[in-house]
Amino acid sequence: MSKLVTVINGPNLNLLGLREPEIYGHDTLADVEEECSKLAQALGMSCRFQQSNHEGQIIDWIQAARDDAVGIVINPAAFSHTSIGILDALHTFEGPVLEVHVSNIHKRESFRHHSYVSHRAEGVIAGFGVQGYSMAIQRMATLLQGS
Ligand code: DQA
Repeated sequence: MSKLVTVINGPNLNLLGLREPEIYGHDTLADVEEECSKLAQALGMSCRFQQSNHEGQIIDWIQAARDDAVGIVINPAAFSHTSIGILDALHTFEGPVLEVHVSNIHKRESFRHHSYVSHRAEGVIAGFGVQGYSMAIQRMATLLQGS
C-alpha cells in the first residue's frame, strides 16, 4: 500500500485563484490537488487533499491522520497566526509535518510573521506560490525514505 500524505488547507483557501490573485496567483485549489496527486503517485505515495474554514474540523482531520497518514503537509492559512489548538493537534502526530504558505508571510504585515505551526513543522515553505505544495510533497518523499 502506498504511503498516505494528507494535505490540509485552512480558511479561505477554497477561494484560491479568485481571492487576491496579485498575492496568491491564479491557480485554484483543484489545480493544486491535481498536481500534488500526480507528483505523490510518481514518488510512490498517495495524497489526500482537505480544506476547511473551521478550526475544529482541521483539528479533527489532524487527529484522524494519526490512524492512516505517514505525513502531513499543511497550509493553516490565517490559523497559522492564531491557533495553539492546531499546534497541539500536530504535536500528537508522529510523522513529518511540513508547513506551506503560498505568499511570503515574512514580507507581509507583521501579524503574519509568526506561525504557531512552525514550532512543530520540520520545514516551512513560503513565497513560492502554489509550487510550494509540490516542493513540500517532494521533501516529504525524501523524509519518508526508508520508513
Ligand atoms: C497564507 C498566508 C496567511 O497569512 C493567510 O492568512 C492565508 C494564506 C498563504 O498561503 O500565503 O490565508 O497561509
